[in-house]
Amino acid sequence: MKVVVAKTAGFCFGVKRAVDTVYEQAARAEDNEEEKPIYTYGPIIHNEEVVRDLEEKGVRVLNSEEDIGKLSGGTVIIRSHGVSRRVYELLEKQGVNVVDATCPFVKKIHKIVKEESEKGKTIVIVGSGNHPEVEGIRGWCSKEAFVVETPEEAEKLRFPEGTKLCIVSQTTFNYNKFQVLVEIILKKSYDSIVVNTICSATHERQAEARQLASKIDVMLVIGGKHSSNTQKLFEICRKECNNTYYIQTIRDLQEQWLEGRRSVGITAGASTPNHIIEEVHRNVRIKF
Ligand code: F3S
Repeated sequence: MKVVVAKTAGFCFGVKRAVDTVYEQAARAEDNEEEKPIYTYGPIIHNEEVVRDLEEKGVRVLNSEEDIGKLSGGTVIIRSHGVSRRVYELLEKQGVNVVDATCPFVKKIHKIVKEESEKGKTIVIVGSGNHPEVEGIRGWCSKEAFVVETPEEAEKLRFPEGTKLCIVSQTTFNYNKFQVLVEIILKKSYDSIVVNTICSATHERQAEARQLASKIDVMLVIGGKHSSNTQKLFEICRKECNNTYYIQTIRDLQEQWLEGRRSVGITAGASTPNHIIEEVHRNVRIKF
């Protein structure tokens, strides 16, 4: 049986870098008491298994700014979503070591909104207001920033005459939706610049999954039950291949799905660790 694993399955570059950083720091701290304890500001990824594994290695999760206020040493790792300027200041005040694993693509947005808002522009962020990445971006604007996620919210935006806008996007926002919202805002005739800060990783993963699913007999999509990007991948693949199955780990794989099939494709959501993908790959190859 032919088994093909999508090249873009699983972690994107920024998430892989952040997760590797935490494992490296946890290993270093084993021999260096000063670096202990190790914390991440928020769970490093939305994957319970990884967070549990890290917990066993002594990595704890800070959930709020109040938690930072209680620290008396150790190392805090900033995850790929990034944080506001205020969080960096709080960490510095607390005197802890900071290891910054913010994705460089997110860092670039921080720089844009900081510079443009300092020049007097009003920042509009296209994204979900309660997403940590958007909270972080907002926290680099030198004056109030506005977040829009729906056409209704974009319609409602009103600014005093003469306002200059800089419109950016959350990295994982859907490109077509971004275009719709930008068009609504541009119609209002403010002096605006638009910077498309959407990261191509999600789009590339989806495009490759679509292509692969159209060519094989069975498609396996691996990811956490609550992962919305994995659900999206599953829907995309299902449209191309009726025999598409959603599994969290190898334990969910049912042998009858693969019996008599000639080819299997495998992809995985953005927070699926490599070893889970490899385990599924290995098992499918050995058993069928
Ligand atoms: Fe990943 Fe960074 Fe893009 S975290 S989705 S590579 S913005």
